[in-house]
Amino acid sequence: MGPIRGYVFDAYGTLFDVHSVIEAGRELTSDPATLSATWRQKQLEYTWLRALMGRYEDFWAVTESALRYAVRRLDLSPTETQLRRLMEAYLSLACFPEVRAALERLEGRPRAILSNGSPRMLEAAVASSGLGPYLRHVLSVDAVKTYKPSPLVYALGPRALGVPAGDLLFVSSNAWDVVGAKAFGYQVAWCNRAGAPEEELGIRADAVVSRLDQLPG
Ligand code: 2OP
Repeated sequence: MGPIRGYVFDAYGTLFDVHSVIEAGRELTSDPATLSATWRQKQLEYTWLRALMGRYEDFWAVTESALRYAVRRLDLSPTETQLRRLMEAYLSLACFPEVRAALERLEGRPRAILSNGSPRMLEAAVASSGLGPYLRHVLSVDAVKTYKPSPLVYALGPRALGVPAGDLLFVSSNAWDVVGAKAFGYQVAWCNRAGAPEEELGIRADAVVSRLDQLPG
C-alpha cells in the first residue's frame, strides 16, 4: 500500500451500527433480524436499480420503500406509527464501540464520510453518535443524484479532500462498496465485520480488518 494522506469512510455498517434498527423491529416481529436483513438487502437493491434506471430518489425515500416491501414480504402488518419508529431508528444510530478511538488514532489526516445516506440522515447519525469532531466532511451521494458504486459518487472524496484517490484509504464493511472504490482508484480497506466471503468481482481489497482500530496508519 502507498502513503495514506486521508481516510474516507462508508457510514452504515462501517461507522454506524444499524443494530438499533433491529431492536426497533422487535415490536413487530419475533424475528427482527430477518426483518432487518430483508429490509437492508431490499434497500441496497433499490439503490442499484434506481441508479441504473436513472430514477434517483434519496436514501430516506428508498429506505422507506424497502421497509414497506420487507413488511409485506414477511406478512407483517405494522401501523404507520410503528413504521415511522423503525425509520426514525436510522436517525439515532450508535457507532460501533471502537470507532471513536479508531478515528482519534488517525488524527492529523483528513477523515470524511462518503455514504448513500441522505444529507439529513447523515447529519442526524453523526450528531447522535458524536462523531462530528472527528470528521472534516460528511459527503452524501445526493450531491450527484445517483448511488454507489457509481464513479460519480467516489469522485466526491478526492474533490472534497483535495487529495488524489490513490492517496486516500476508502474503508467500508460492504465488500461491493470496497470493490467500487478500488475500481475508481482509491486504496481500500474492507472492514469485514460479518466474516463474509470476498465478492467474485475480480478486484481485491488492499487490506482486510475486522475492526476499524486495525486500519493501516
Ligand atoms: C452507505 O453508503 C452503502 O449503506 C452504505 O452508507
